[in-house]
Amino acid sequence: MTLEEKVGQLNQYSGRELTGPASNRKTDLLNSIRSGQVGSMLNVKGVADTHAIQAEALKSRLKIPLLFSLDVIHGYQTVFPIPLGEAASWDLAAIRESAHVAGREAAASGIHWTFAPMVDVGRDPRWGRVMEGAGEDAYLGSQIAKARVLGFQGEKLGGTDAIMACAKHFAAYGAALAGRDYNVVDMSEQQLWEVYLPPFKAAADAGVATFMNSFNTLNGIPATGNSYLQRDILKGQWKYPGFVVSDWGSIKEMVPWGYALDKAAAAQKAITAGSDMDIESDAYSASLAQLVKDGKADVGLVDDAVRRILRKKFELGLFDDPYKFSDAKREKKVLSDPQHRVAARQMAQKSIVLLKNDKNMLPLAPQRKIALIGPLTKAKRDLAGSWIVLADTTQITSVYDGLTKRGGKNAPQVLYTKGCEVLGDSRAGFAQAVETAKAADVVVLTVGETWDMSGEAKSRADIHLPGVQEELFQTLKATGKPIVVIIMAGRPLIFNAIADQADAILYGWWPGSESGTALANVLYGEYNPSGKLPSTFPQSGGQIPISYQQYSTGRPVTKPGDIRYKSAYIDAPNTPRYAFGHGLSYTTFKYDNLKISQLSMSAGQTVQVQFTVTNTGQRAGEEVVQLYLRDMVASVARPLKELKDFKKISLKPGETQTVTFTIDQDKLAFYNQQLQWAAEPGEFQLMIGSASDDIRLESKLTLVP
Ligand code: IFM
Repeated sequence: MTLEEKVGQLNQYSGRELTGPASNRKTDLLNSIRSGQVGSMLNVKGVADTHAIQAEALKSRLKIPLLFSLDVIHGYQTVFPIPLGEAASWDLAAIRESAHVAGREAAASGIHWTFAPMVDVGRDPRWGRVMEGAGEDAYLGSQIAKARVLGFQGEKLGGTDAIMACAKHFAAYGAALAGRDYNVVDMSEQQLWEVYLPPFKAAADAGVATFMNSFNTLNGIPATGNSYLQRDILKGQWKYPGFVVSDWGSIKEMVPWGYALDKAAAAQKAITAGSDMDIESDAYSASLAQLVKDGKADVGLVDDAVRRILRKKFELGLFDDPYKFSDAKREKKVLSDPQHRVAARQMAQKSIVLLKNDKNMLPLAPQRKIALIGPLTKAKRDLAGSWIVLADTTQITSVYDGLTKRGGKNAPQVLYTKGCEVLGDSRAGFAQAVETAKAADVVVLTVGETWDMSGEAKSRADIHLPGVQEELFQTLKATGKPIVVIIMAGRPLIFNAIADQADAILYGWWPGSESGTALANVLYGEYNPSGKLPSTFPQSGGQIPISYQQYSTGRPVTKPGDIRYKSAYIDAPNTPRYAFGHGLSYTTFKYDNLKISQLSMSAGQTVQVQFTVTNTGQRAGEEVVQLYLRDMVASVARPLKELKDFKKISLKPGETQTVTFTIDQDKLAFYNQQLQWAAEPGEFQLMIGSASDDIRLESKLTLVP
């Protein structure tokens, strides 16, 4: 390969214009593709278009096929719940299946590579991109990262039903200061290694084909130009064999960051730091060959990047058949597979969290007259959320459709009015809403965010339920009718009046194609909700960033209200509105019979923690059983609780199941001051529960030297 041909493999461009009318950009791009100056395309989809553009690449001297990439984040044609919603299922098999279906549809449509999963830990719900992640916890996030990678890729690259995954955004993007997108991150090494890196390591261990770096700085260095992250940790310590793609324009953004003098300097810093492919900065294409010729960049770095990219093209089988993912017959068949909607419905049901259910308000009794009110009742597009690719959003089942199209014994009588918009301050619909409520037995109120209020560049300084939606709720509450509130949003929101006064609350996130059917099935008890929050819900914006991993501090609040000179707020409690792991069911579970194989262990030993869970209610249900640990005294102050394991179990009424967790030294370890992952002898508190604030069984465990 010539130097120019090598550099060509390192460039990715967005190809929307390629399928549009003639333009200078279209001509330039096509010329670049034909002359081997492009390695990969973004935003070209569908068999016809990917096939036609691949044919252009095969006119180049070396005939190296292009990689077609796309942001397939939560479905391709069939829309699954947003990733944060899926994370609320804590159901790794279902999450893997969702990624598999999305990958299958995308692959059938000519795509080789998705920019997912986003594995950034997010503890700041002001950051719009929390919707794309798996919540606040490193352990849960790592399990989900692995499930998603395996779902997209299968066990081995090369199957026609699988696409390459991309662990993004490396690294610490979720900690952007004040929740503002693209912002700085300032973080201790301990935080980085314990909280923000583990899901990336899990993705790498699961064989993720690619990584994407991020827009933020980490302790002053832009991630795209960060050798510590990409060379030392990822490609060094972790021996990662895949390649790293920049984020869109993130190489050239090192100039406005004040980290590179110009685009050529940015290219030099990026390649040196280990960024292998450049999306849309045009920095490598413009400067890299010259930098090598001038002795400012080592050709070995270029060779390494090219090798990493070509290896993936080989593994995908593109050198055997560049069109293996472009098959019109397969595209038609796969995109109309009815099983995909079934999978989307099941996933949506599992992602819904029952936050509150006073006096067993839910499930609704059959044939109650329902006042269906709220700005999201007939919404379709909003329920798909952001980052959707191909979906025909008219095919999304609205809540209204979900309830009115029900037949049989559960067919409800539905009265509808909108009440208000999601945004804005018009109360003009309130009077009609009150009349509608008065004419019904129960109010089902849908509120939340519009699809474009969470996602990239959608940070919010104030995460209260927007507009006058909560005021509408209070107006309806004054009628005395029981109210079930369904909240659909891309992030944890603050809604204190609803939390205090609603009779029941379902948090639906943005549930996707089967929103209405899934929610109706939950409202009527055909599916017993099993979702648990993957993120803490604050009750005040001032509590953010927030996570269940609180510390004792030297001045803990030990008695409620006793906050004088304690680590507390004078105007808000320390406790969240809803804790990490919280989520109710229509049945109840009893935890009992805790047995621990030994109360002390030494290095290399394992301890079995066994207990029973019994379904003590009248309905079959699923429970997410959670194991937390606390290291009581250590060389570094430790959180009060850390999730170390969980299991999702299914129990019929009256049924009992024995659950076993194994504790090894790894579960007791943390990063010490020397950044060594090590467990220290001493006492640990072991907590088993239904949520981080609902611990049912406890014991001590001692690690002996
Ligand atoms: O994959 C995304 C990334 O998450 C944010 N910026 C744009 C990329 C490509 O679309």
